[in-house]
Amino acid sequence: MTLLEVTGLNVSYGTTQVVHDLDLAVESGKILTVLGPNGAGKSSTLRAVCGLIRRTPGEVRLEGRSIGRLRASQVASAGLVMVPEGRRVFGSLSVEENLLLGAYRLGRRRKQQTLDTCYDMFPILQQRRAQRAGYLSGGEQQMLAFGRALMADPLVILMDEPSMGLAPVVVNQVMAHARVIADLGIGVLMVEQNARAAMKVADEVVVLRLGRPVFRGSVEQARGDAALVRAFLGDTAVAEPSGAEPSGVAPSGAEPRPASPRHAVPDVVS
Ligand SMILES: Nc1ncnc2c1ncn2[C@@H]1O[C@H](COP(=O)(O)OP(=O)(O)O)[C@@H](O)[C@H]1O
Ligand SMILES: [Mg+2]
Repeated sequence: MTLLEVTGLNVSYGTTQVVHDLDLAVESGKILTVLGPNGAGKSSTLRAVCGLIRRTPGEVRLEGRSIGRLRASQVASAGLVMVPEGRRVFGSLSVEENLLLGAYRLGRRRKQQTLDTCYDMFPILQQRRAQRAGYLSGGEQQMLAFGRALMADPLVILMDEPSMGLAPVVVNQVMAHARVIADLGIGVLMVEQNARAAMKVADEVVVLRLGRPVFRGSVEQARGDAALVRAFLGDTAVAEPSGAEPSGVAPSGAEPRPASPRHAVPDVVS
């Protein structure tokens, strides 16, 4: 079932147009990843979809209902929730206070239930629930940012470069968490520079170049498209954060390879 449908999205800053005629569809239980290098228009796309910046003309539908004219806060209440670039947790608040900030839509009982679900998914957050969020590691802060989005009981979560600044082994954990979130039936729209990591868990791929979609298809199709891999995924696909192994070599023991076909060919883009 298509939860989020974006058609003809255009975004400009002043007279500079940075996103051109972009269509996106996010299904329940699926991860759509929008890949592209720095400056491709990924964050602008997400900010426009959730109403943080203006988009024209474009249409944004959530469960068939037009949300294109809603303000960002109304968009969140409608069930479209953003996990921003850089995570933006409130460092001086406790982990649990950060989570509860996400739950303003919910009544008291649902709030407790959702908190329990969150802690089941991220036991480390429960262990650290009274601690200041600022003391968490980058990977734990990303879990907290995911948790805070889940607390809003969303239909669709937008994730802006969740891998940013994290070590490769942590990146893989973050991607696995994105998969678990989708498996709850939530639609995930994840933008990433780290094509290699994102393609391990995504279902569908859009590649953005200078604000224009230059590829659209399944992960398998993206991997099978040699020209695409060479031209648009090659450099970003191997651009892991610092400390990464040489391209094409699996990290020694760091990364258990699940048996599912979705995870079976991680090195094809290197
Ligand atoms: N607030 C802004 N004002 C003007 N230009 C911006 C602003 N934010 C981003 N841009 C420009 O828009 C383009 C796309 O940026 P962005 O969406 O952040 O790309 P990405 O997230 O893919 O790195 C870039 O050329 C960037 O410099
Ligand atoms: Mg960005």
